[in-house]
Amino acid sequence: MARGQFITVEGIEGTGKSTHIDYLTGLIRANGIDVETTREPGGTPMAEKIRALLLDHGQEPVTGDVELLLFFAARSLHLHNRILPALDEGRWVVCDRFTDATRAYQGSGRGLDSEKIEQLASWVQGGLEPDLTLLLDAPAEIGMARAATRGEGDRMDNEELAFYQRVRNGYLALAAAHPERFVIVDASRSLAEVQASIGDRLDRFISDNKP
Ligand code: TMP
Repeated sequence: MARGQFITVEGIEGTGKSTHIDYLTGLIRANGIDVETTREPGGTPMAEKIRALLLDHGQEPVTGDVELLLFFAARSLHLHNRILPALDEGRWVVCDRFTDATRAYQGSGRGLDSEKIEQLASWVQGGLEPDLTLLLDAPAEIGMARAATRGEGDRMDNEELAFYQRVRNGYLALAAAHPERFVIVDASRSLAEVQASIGDRLDRFISDNKP
């Protein structure tokens, strides 16, 4: 049986990730492909507990290294207990964020050492990278304004605009460095326009990889 395809969706807050993930998954399913959606940090019961720790750590100070280790601990659980078994059984997996989020948020956003991030990535992933990464791109001002109208307010969402500008630039640099798997979608357009772009790109990916 052919291994499933691993698709990740990335972007700063307010780029419509959840809506576009639903749309994308619907398109895959409509092609008769067995697909599951999941998210990071999280995706397994224990990884979801780590997510809760990451998004709300109370009063205790958390260094960048601790945050990084927790993201990769959650990722290791998620990979071994959910993503890899699904791919091995031929199912496709659509994941809301993956290691590119660590590269963009912890690396470009917080300025953590990219060598440390890559060491952890190769340790935890053993060379596995997504087959396709959809980057929903929009200027940080637009993303922040949209996220604010949704009333989101966890620790990450309250970071200043400059942080999200660095994160966005980090994502764009990753896309430029890995054109073989990244597709940039301009998410500042209307929902219909964004979905048309996603549909167009995904049709090609599905016809190239359909089991
Ligand atoms: P979400 O709001 O898209 O579910 O993601 C939760 C937050 O975690 C979001 O602000 C991005 C952040 N994040 C990182 O900083 N590094 C990572 O590796 C991942 C997966 C998420």
